[in-house]
Parts: sequence; structure tokens; C-alpha cells
Amino acid sequence: MSTEGKTRPVTTHRLMEMKQRGERIAMLTAYDYSTARIMDAAGMDVILVGDSAANVMAGFDSTLPITLDNMIYHAKSVVRAVKRALVVVDLPFGTYQGNSKEALASAVRIMKETEANAVKLEGGLEVIESVQRILSAGIPVMGHLGLTPQSIHQFGTYTVRAREEAEAAKLADDAALLERAGCFGLVLEKIPADLAARVSASLRIPTISIGAGGGCDGQVLVMHDMLGINTEFSPRFLRRYADLFTIMTDAFVNYIADVKSGAFPSDAEQY
Ligand code: KIV
Repeated sequence: MSTEGKTRPVTTHRLMEMKQRGERIAMLTAYDYSTARIMDAAGMDVILVGDSAANVMAGFDSTLPITLDNMIYHAKSVVRAVKRALVVVDLPFGTYQGNSKEALASAVRIMKETEANAVKLEGGLEVIESVQRILSAGIPVMGHLGLTPQSIHQFGTYTVRAREEAEAAKLADDAALLERAGCFGLVLEKIPADLAARVSASLRIPTISIGAGGGCDGQVLVMHDMLGINTEFSPRFLRRYADLFTIMTDAFVNYIADVKSGAFPSDAEQY
């Protein structure tokens, strides 16, 4: 059996082909070498070095504090591990809004220093100049609409977005605008499933859902949430595929007990 399909690197062009033939896109976040290696070998299509690293790696309450240098550190570690998946890196808060030249400089740093494949940024019309300028340098851009965590202080809550007609219409307009500008894909976060399905059907580029339902062209979750490392966060859209909190706690407790009792190391575990 040919392994070409498994090992051929995923490109933005291939994601578009996957949408055309109805093949769903699997995407997860990763922030370090070791987990990115496991994820890539498992066959993940897209690995997102998300600014959710601010929450799950650094323990901040929001994604706002993470810096471009921090993102570059995480992205470099992930890229070193990946042979097949498309690696997308979030532009962090404050590095692209309101100044398209700074946006391009930030995106260029990510591409040059990490050798990732693409950048992602949040927003529609408000950031379109930045999107266009980054694209004009040949850097692939993924959009992100709906609940955009970098705007949490404007929203005030993490509840479902675009339930109202006006916000839903703006989201659909922004999605079309980002596609026309040349974005290769779009994350839709925490919006009603019927709106996400309509937007997805209206676009040629793939949409990736996080809490936006099954009508999108792919799904993304934050790795720590789906592995059950992070137990405080359990929105309706989250499916837990493992209970690493319990597995890790048991391992740590057993290790402590073995060290204290002298059961570790055994004769076979020493020289
Ligand atoms: O930073 C992140 O993890 C993200 C996902 C929630 C899509 O942007």
C-alpha cells in the first residue's frame, strides 16, 4: 500500500482540495516538540501553535499577555517535530491590529524564525489591511471569526457569538471579505451551528470549527482540553478523548510513594 498520501506534506492547496471532495480537516493545537511529534505521526492535518499557549502553557487568564517572542519559541519547537502537518502560528495580540506594516513585520518574523507554513489572526474588516499586506508578501493567512479571544475585554464574556441577526450578518460579510482577500481558511469559534454551516457552504475556502458545529469543513480543539489535562474548562463543544489529569496524578502520586519508600530505583534500575 502506498504511504504517499500519509507522508506528503499538507499544504494550503491540499486543504482546499479536501474541502472540495468533502474530506474533513483535523486540527489541534500544540506548543512543544514532543507532543507535536506524536500528533504529526498520528496523522493530524493542521497543527496550530495557538496563542492559547498563554492559558494552557503559561497559566494566564486570557490570551492577551503572550508575546511574539513567546509564540516564536513555541512555533520553532513544533516545526522541528513536524514532517507532514501544515503548521499555522497565531499572531499574538498587539502585533497586527491597527498597523499593517507592523503586522507584516510580525508575520515575517514568524515565517523566517520558525519556518512555519502560515499565520492566523483574529477579526474581519477591522484587520483587513493587515491581512492584505501579509498576503502580499506571499505569507498564507488563516482568519478567525466569531468568539475571538483577543477581544475578550470588549465582549465581556466567553458566551456564544453572533446569535443576533446584525452580528451574524457582519460575520458572513467578514468571512466573504477574508476569502476575497486571499485567506486559505477560516476558524469559526463558538457561533450557532446553522450560521457556521451557511457560511461554510458559501465559501470555497475551508472553515474549521471550534464550537461552531458539524457543518464546518474541519474541527479544532485545544490539545490540553481534549486530553483532559485542563479540567476546569468544560464547554458543551468540548469532547474529552482522554483523562490525562487522572493518569498523570496517579503517576506522580505513585512516583512520590516509591521514592519515599525506597521502592524506586530497584536493583535493575541502577548501575
Ligand atoms: O489559540 C488557539 O488555540 C486558537 C484555537 C482556539 C482555534 O485560536
